[in-house]
Amino acid sequence: MMEEIHDEPIALERAFRAERAHAFEFKRFCGRQNFRLIVLVARGTSDNAALFGRYLLELTTGIPVSLAAPSVHTLYHARLNLRQALVIGISQSGEGTDINLVLQAARRQGACTVGITNEPHSAMARLVDEVFLVRAGRQRSVAATKTYTGQLLVLYLLASALGQAVTLEEVGRIPGHVRQALRLESEIRELVERYRYMHECAVVARGLNYANAFELSLKLMETCYVVAERFSAADFLHGPIALVERDFPVMLFMPPGKTFAEMNRLAKRLRQLRAETVVISSSDSKLPAATRALRVPDVIPELYTPIPYIVPGQLVAALLAEAKGIDPDRPRSLKIVTRTR
Ligand code: AGP
Repeated sequence: MMEEIHDEPIALERAFRAERAHAFEFKRFCGRQNFRLIVLVARGTSDNAALFGRYLLELTTGIPVSLAAPSVHTLYHARLNLRQALVIGISQSGEGTDINLVLQAARRQGACTVGITNEPHSAMARLVDEVFLVRAGRQRSVAATKTYTGQLLVLYLLASALGQAVTLEEVGRIPGHVRQALRLESEIRELVERYRYMHECAVVARGLNYANAFELSLKLMETCYVVAERFSAADFLHGPIALVERDFPVMLFMPPGKTFAEMNRLAKRLRQLRAETVVISSSDSKLPAATRALRVPDVIPELYTPIPYIVPGQLVAALLAEAKGIDPDRPRSLKIVTRTR
């Protein structure tokens, strides 16, 4: 897992260089289609990438985006009208049974289908109209890290093809921001000692980093066996805040930008409750309410924070597992490919 986290800057550069021309061609194709709806379908970490895709694509293209409920297709066999829809499947392995069944059904129902996968010879790559490759190199760790950030990068490329707001210049800077984020490793190695006996926590974010709350909590569950619940900062105030007592750990993603004021309001409330907060943010933000802060060294526009911001989260999970004496590469009861319907 640590090796794959360290591979991320190079893997992201490789994907960017190889797929940007493809995104440019796809832009021409999209110009002729007039897509009215985008549907994303995935499981596990790839589904967290899809959740990010929902925010990114709605914000930057104006096209409504929905996350597919696979059972609607695979168990209930519903017929949907997917004409003028773009259906995007995301799967590291490209072998998720239900994801591929949804893509097949979507094609029959009139959609244009795209696959985002790390495996060029996978079932997904063979069945979709257009394949974008993550090019992260073979994933060996059960815990997906480099393929998550690679999937997010490809989603930026698709956003640049479908709208105007994402610039390839900024996307091209992401691997550099990730290199900077990796410099937090020794600080995180010290920090995790404090959480060696943590059994439960909440992870909270809003907007573009909401998917990262899901991803960090998944990583904490599968590699550290911590019961990690994830929430939007708004939903957290509608009930879960009642869980919080003195020293209850809450991790927060707080990039400077549109979501900062709301996240900061929550951080202040958590301080009043004497919770233990760990904030992931940038070097330029003011964080008086945090117990602990992990600051990604670069100043990054909010739209481009999700990839560099998950990196300290991945390091927390990998190093906390080590501190707890758990091998993060062999989580109990898990394999790299999980087949569900
Ligand atoms: C990731 O850390 C998990 N082990 C798991 O959730 C994985 O992302 C999921 O099984 C999806 O796999 P896929 O991307 O190969 O379809």
